[in-house]
Amino acid sequence: MDSSRPIGVFDSGIGGLTVVRALMERLPLERIVYFGDTARVPYGVKSVATIEHFTAQITEYLLQQDVKMLIVACNTMAAVAADVVRRLARDIPVLDVIEAGALAAVAESKGRGIGVIGTPTTINSNAYARRIHALDPGVRVYSQACPLFVPLVEEGWLDHPVTRLTAQEYLKPVLAEEVGSLVLGCTHYPLLKPLLRDVVGPGVRLVDSAITTAELAAAKLLELGIASTHAGPTAYRFVVTDVPLRFQTIGERFLGRSLGTVEKLEW
Ligand code: DGL
Repeated sequence: MDSSRPIGVFDSGIGGLTVVRALMERLPLERIVYFGDTARVPYGVKSVATIEHFTAQITEYLLQQDVKMLIVACNTMAAVAADVVRRLARDIPVLDVIEAGALAAVAESKGRGIGVIGTPTTINSNAYARRIHALDPGVRVYSQACPLFVPLVEEGWLDHPVTRLTAQEYLKPVLAEEVGSLVLGCTHYPLLKPLLRDVVGPGVRLVDSAITTAELAAAKLLELGIASTHAGPTAYRFVVTDVPLRFQTIGERFLGRSLGTVEKLEW
């Protein structure tokens, strides 16, 4: 396989840019085509059937872009539709944020319980707990849906009293179980890391699934012999289904740098 082909990364909207950011830092030679379904976001409160349908459409689009690997950056899609992606992708390798997050959480747990936070659909699916238990059947997992975090992050309230109070309220039951690590099981939550670190205190490790996904991708590309060796300027494409108000500002906050040109897909 031609190692200069791009990696396809996708999400329900712009949150998956946290994964792209981690990939750009960890794998600077890789080309990336990012797909954000900004016209239909949020997915975290939608039904499994709807998410499966949307996920199949996005997977097919990215396969047509001749990607060498697919990364499901959206925790909600990874929770309920990862099988759909793997079935359609056939021999193209697929990674998802939940497998990366579960691996890192088990490595970090050191005999203590694991907390998982995510959207209602992700938490109701129990996907994190299942993946974690497949790796370590004995570990205790405590999950908590945090539906208000996505709008708070999109509002830019990353260090705001309302967000702090919301986090304290959501995390109370998980922290009462004295967990050793907390998995940030949603694309938006890495932006809340400084605030969450304060709320959980120094004894709880935060597992950032964006960073762990980039690590897993690096290992997989090497293992398959398809890591890019291309030394010229890297090409990044950002494809979305809508360009809503404040898109640029929010997108650049997630990506940590300028977005450049964004392509709007007419479906
Ligand atoms: N990308 C979603 C996730 O990681 C959050 C936004 C949404 O609900 O679509 O779960």
